[in-house]
Amino acid sequence: MAINRTSSHGEWSSRTAFILAATGSAVGLGNIWKFPYITGENGGGAFVLIYILCVLFIGIPIMLSEVYLGKRGRLNPIASIRYISERENRSKNWQIIGLIGILAGILILSYYSVIAGWTMAYATRTAFGVINNIDALGATKMFNDFVSDPERLLAWHTIFSIITAIVVSKGVKSGLESAVIRLMPALLVLLLALVIFSAIEGDFMNGMKFMLYPDFSQVTWKTILIAMGQAFFSLSLGMGALMVYGSYLSSDISIPQTCVIVASLDTLVALLAGLAIFPIVISAGLEMTQGPGLLFQTLTVAFGAMPGGQLFGTLFFILLIFAAWTSSISLIEPMVIWLIEKFNISRIQAAIISSGTAWLLGIGTIVSFNIGKEIKIFNMNIFEMLDYLTSNILLPMGGIMITIYVSWLISKESIDSELNIRSTILRRIWYLSARIIAPLAVIFVMLNALGFNLTIL
Ligand code: TRP
Repeated sequence: MAINRTSSHGEWSSRTAFILAATGSAVGLGNIWKFPYITGENGGGAFVLIYILCVLFIGIPIMLSEVYLGKRGRLNPIASIRYISERENRSKNWQIIGLIGILAGILILSYYSVIAGWTMAYATRTAFGVINNIDALGATKMFNDFVSDPERLLAWHTIFSIITAIVVSKGVKSGLESAVIRLMPALLVLLLALVIFSAIEGDFMNGMKFMLYPDFSQVTWKTILIAMGQAFFSLSLGMGALMVYGSYLSSDISIPQTCVIVASLDTLVALLAGLAIFPIVISAGLEMTQGPGLLFQTLTVAFGAMPGGQLFGTLFFILLIFAAWTSSISLIEPMVIWLIEKFNISRIQAAIISSGTAWLLGIGTIVSFNIGKEIKIFNMNIFEMLDYLTSNILLPMGGIMITIYVSWLISKESIDSELNIRSTILRRIWYLSARIIAPLAVIFVMLNALGFNLTIL
């Protein structure tokens, strides 16, 4: 029986451990670096509202489906789906979901690790007092100088890649649980303190207004696609990360509650990050549309002005490095266990191959900010293209295939026993969203954003 199989890679010690690991995967640069800057680029309140709707109606139902696949299959994403397809008499071609996921994970990691490198550089600078009393102009110049130096970016990217490889080669669970349980609350506390600082020193009213007051006049299909892509990205959905974490979950645990907790924590952190950053952006006279540098420039100004900012800022960046690191592990883990199971190699070898690949691809992102700025594909530089391709295309595609496969093609008995949805109403709501609402919404938004104009409004 599928239900009693356990993963050969070990099992979580408890439900809390799974929640922690999944939250560790979900909360990362996506919440604190990416969410504020894309909210800034896409006009604020309306974008935030659409984002939250996407988390609720698309993200959470798909999350349940994805964890189901892992918990039932208990192998790497490709093999899990093959195993389940055999049991359920479905085509083995659904394995392609696993393959897209592994690819998306490595592509994301390639730029994620570059940005994590920026965080390390900024932790160092803050610790050495380089940013004390810096003004907005100075912060902008510092950031521009920093990213225009490919060697520097490469050095930090390399350090982060090596750390990820070392940790992954030791196995996911030793260390991850205890790191997350200590560091995640600390990150939350620091983020709250930053929001308070922002409320006192920044233009809090206008910052809040920017983030919470929806102005729909600026919303286009592309805005909606980006908000939806961010929901996938931030919840770590659509590429098998949660499938892998789900496969380490013991069989008697209720998935829905767990997923709702993870999604809520993730959204909370993103909203707090926005609340901390936008008031300072406004009061310091920075641009909302600054792009990927927004977090770094804003925080430099904030920590530079804050009493005790040197210590506080250093701690904040260090915690952000940890958050990025727990996310990176989940980006690489699907490829690692796939390599181990498929080619029978050791974990260390698999970790080296996977992070080596991501490291190499990361060079594309590094040069997007300097010597390769002019290289454009569809009017996007390499970094923007990788981000667009993964967040807005591969993850949503992976996500709908997962949810269609699970909600339409898997027997109800299996869903019931693995998902453990106790209330009938909740089960109906999940079926409705997983079968119809989420897939239709994703397809509709993607087609419209690609210019097919299926407008019904
Ligand atoms: N969710 C992480 C963040 O917000 C990034 C991440 C980790 C991710 N694992 C993932 C994104 C899997 C997509 C898929 O920073």
